[in-house]
Amino acid sequence: MTEFEIRHKDLMGRIGKLRTSHGYIETPTIMPVINPNLNSIGAEEMKKYGAEILIANAYIIYRKEGLREAAIKKGIHALLGFELPIMTDSGSYQLYEYKDIEVSNREIVEFQQRIGSDICVPLDIPTPPNVKRERAKDDLEETLRRMQEARSLIQTNLLAGVVQGSTFLDLRGECAQHVSEIGFEVYAIGGVVPLLESYSFDKLVDIIVASKLNLPLNAPVHLFGAGHPMIFPLAVALGCDLFDSAAYALYAKGKRYLTSDGTRKVEELSYLPCSCPVCSSYSVKEIKENEDLLASHNLWVTFEEMRTVKQSIVERSLWELCERRCRAYPALLNALIQMTKYSALIERYDPVTKHPFFYLGESSAHRPEVLRYSSRLNRFTVSGKVLISTFFLKKEPALRKNRISEEVEVFDHVFLVKPPFGPYPVGLEESYPVGQSEIPTAVDNEAKTIALQNVLKLLELNRKVKFVFRYDRSWEGHPLIDEIRRYAEVRKEE
Ligand code: GUN
Ligand code: ZN
Repeated sequence: MTEFEIRHKDLMGRIGKLRTSHGYIETPTIMPVINPNLNSIGAEEMKKYGAEILIANAYIIYRKEGLREAAIKKGIHALLGFELPIMTDSGSYQLYEYKDIEVSNREIVEFQQRIGSDICVPLDIPTPPNVKRERAKDDLEETLRRMQEARSLIQTNLLAGVVQGSTFLDLRGECAQHVSEIGFEVYAIGGVVPLLESYSFDKLVDIIVASKLNLPLNAPVHLFGAGHPMIFPLAVALGCDLFDSAAYALYAKGKRYLTSDGTRKVEELSYLPCSCPVCSSYSVKEIKENEDLLASHNLWVTFEEMRTVKQSIVERSLWELCERRCRAYPALLNALIQMTKYSALIERYDPVTKHPFFYLGESSAHRPEVLRYSSRLNRFTVSGKVLISTFFLKKEPALRKNRISEEVEVFDHVFLVKPPFGPYPVGLEESYPVGQSEIPTAVDNEAKTIALQNVLKLLELNRKVKFVFRYDRSWEGHPLIDEIRRYAEVRKEE
């Protein structure tokens, strides 16, 4: 098999298996950051949380002579006491933080290879968001040169190609294209930490999409520096497979308690909204006073959220998970809305059938399935006398059944209207997505608008056909009904 095998898909997200020289890992997964100088949670202990792979910073090891010598002698696995896969980063982030580091790309890449890293990273240049275009371009050129050099040095270990380009989406796209041409086993999206720190999640969505569009689909993608669980559903839905987390430790240092929908100051907690081994064995007071306990809780919830994401891929309900999680913060809601702008694109990757469609608010009206449905309205052949009726929303099934069978006798075709999809033939009541969608009876106007737009589309596609459009009180006053009048005989239900 190739290095990466995809097992399940939902949206652009996937469950995959990646082969490394220290065994397989299942993605999406989170790689806890191990720093041999200061970790409270040891490498071996990471397994009990669910870690299948760790990430360490090769530069931190390299710059301390003692550590460097030990790593060269024993290898990184023995040095850290962990026999499962280990990815190493190159020190690029230090380069970004402190501007200058004392190692060349060649040196640090060869060092990673020498100590037996399973996934190596070149010394890319993380360009921050919103810099001048010239700067982003210059950095990018150098980054590409270094990646080419790294590729020529590394053949046996897996090597990550990094996508930079600041907030210029065309540069992200170009860079992704170039790294794909060079060819790597893993791809990584870098330079996004400042966006994560400023909660600019909508910009993050744009960057991930611009990069993913130009990367090979059958390779894993790492989102550098994204360790907060609240971003996992969205990032995985857009096709990210690997995450690294120093967040669990950094937030603990800042006395922050992570949850799947945000961050709390531990000081402000009176109760613990979690049942992880820490929260179920210690008191609020103990956790407030002990940074290690806090880091441990943070790591438990981080892995828990990733399992939740994976389960939602298997059952194909990842969109709904994104909708639930993205309602925790306005900045996340921005990102969800941004994601809906890419629905047409996501639709191309998305499996056609899935978990029942739950309508959970306006963003659901823009889901990929709704767009797909609209683009396929031309598949319905209609002729003769056709009824389109909003009768669907009436609840009594017996009444509805009688009514529909009467109508089927009078008309050649009967379509019912279900928001947000719009018209569907009576016979399609069981099929995905229309037939397998649950819509609140008090559905919002956005869903009705999309439904009526699709009614109009059906009418326009079949101008020669005689249509009757019948609507009930709940649709009264919708401005599109007047539009429909231009193509159909409109009757209001009594
Ligand atoms: N860690 C966080 N961001 C980055 C990045 O852009 N590149 C590398 N190599 N590591 C990172
Ligand atoms: Zn907990």
